[in-house]
Amino acid sequence: MDREPHDLLDELQRDPYPHYDRARRAQGLMYVPELDAWLVARDTDVREVLRRPGDFSSANSLRPDVLPSPAALAVLGGGFGGRPVVVTTDGTRHQQLRAPLVRGLSPARVAAVLPYAAERAAALVDTFADDGGVELMSAYAQRLPGDVIGRIVGLDPVDVPAVVHGGHRAEELLFRPLEESEQIAAAEDVVAMQHILDRYIRARHAQPRQDLATDIVASVTEGELTLEQRHEAVAHLQNLLIAGHLTTTALIGTTVLHLLRHRAQWELLCAEPDRIPAAVEEGARYDSALQGFYRVTTRPVTLAGTELPAGATVFVAFAGANRDPARHPRPDEFDITRAPERHLAFGLGVHGCPGAQLAREQLRLTLEELTRRLPGLGLAADQPVIMRPTMIHRSPYRLYLTW
Ligand code: HEM
Repeated sequence: MDREPHDLLDELQRDPYPHYDRARRAQGLMYVPELDAWLVARDTDVREVLRRPGDFSSANSLRPDVLPSPAALAVLGGGFGGRPVVVTTDGTRHQQLRAPLVRGLSPARVAAVLPYAAERAAALVDTFADDGGVELMSAYAQRLPGDVIGRIVGLDPVDVPAVVHGGHRAEELLFRPLEESEQIAAAEDVVAMQHILDRYIRARHAQPRQDLATDIVASVTEGELTLEQRHEAVAHLQNLLIAGHLTTTALIGTTVLHLLRHRAQWELLCAEPDRIPAAVEEGARYDSALQGFYRVTTRPVTLAGTELPAGATVFVAFAGANRDPARHPRPDEFDITRAPERHLAFGLGVHGCPGAQLAREQLRLTLEELTRRLPGLGLAADQPVIMRPTMIHRSPYRLYLTW
């Protein structure tokens, strides 16, 4: 039986590594029909694309896999946003959008939120520590990052669940094939989130505070707040929130999964917690949360010997580069003791992740809590682990653990 195009894409997304391997071995670049793009998977080629933003535009970086139905689009029309954001812009506009984020996620701001992040990590583990078992994604990994980015942005904790939920629904709407009624329901959740964010934008415009929502408002206007600026600010904030929590949720889930699949390394980490920073880097490298983003050529260019016309789409696989044996010896082995080598899990260059330190700190806190309090942790034997089919937030759907 013929399989639907989306099934083939799902298959690739659940296990993209053989495709990266073939692409790295190919002469020049390999075209992948499922992705409808040239796959860039060698470390040197990925670095080259990221260092040439003038030739490889980010305009299509978040190209959706699915176009929502007219009815779902009509619902979205009642919301806010839909404006270019930091990941999808180039040049001067990109720099303007990025500036408040770099300030808002500076080392000093990250250090300032750490006590709260540590307190939340401990409190979440408290909720299940005596239970002998947990589904880690819903009880922990989907919660800590939302609380932390919510704090940085300045959200009231009561609004965090709806904002996190809206982020998940926005991803589903654009990347999963949903029934019409589900699309409409997802669009309604997204719009509800956008109205919450708009409320913050207006409140911070009226009364500035020391938070990132205020910085974002200040970056779109110095005077009156127009309707267009509200749309811009909501789009900006929504993008930041999604970039901040879905990715980190994925990194936490995937890293815990691989540590427990490699029991000796988990035990080593429990015995020698000084190795946690190295385990964070290996988790980020080995099964990168953000597998890759698209770019589009702005003029005819040659990459890895392949001539591309203007307007060609490439998929820049950070995760493919992170498995390149030319940079990482024994790349397919998960090994927290490997010699550190700069990976590309957080990108590079003008679009490089401004939240990388925040993400790393949350995984570090998580591993400190879990190794110290639940060293007997293991994967539940009767629950197979299924990876979500996605290139942007790679993680298990659910992660059942026992101890
Ligand atoms: C495991 C967690 C994370 C991973 C793997 C990750 C990865 C990345 C990567 C690879 C890029 C580069 C995209 C590109 O080149 O087009 C990026 C950009 C970005 N990340 Fe992260 N990120 C993570 C966490 C965070 C957090 C916690 C935040 C915010 C608090 C954040 C905010 C952003 C933003 C705003 C951009 C766009 C920057 C730009 O276009 O100039 N990320 N991230």
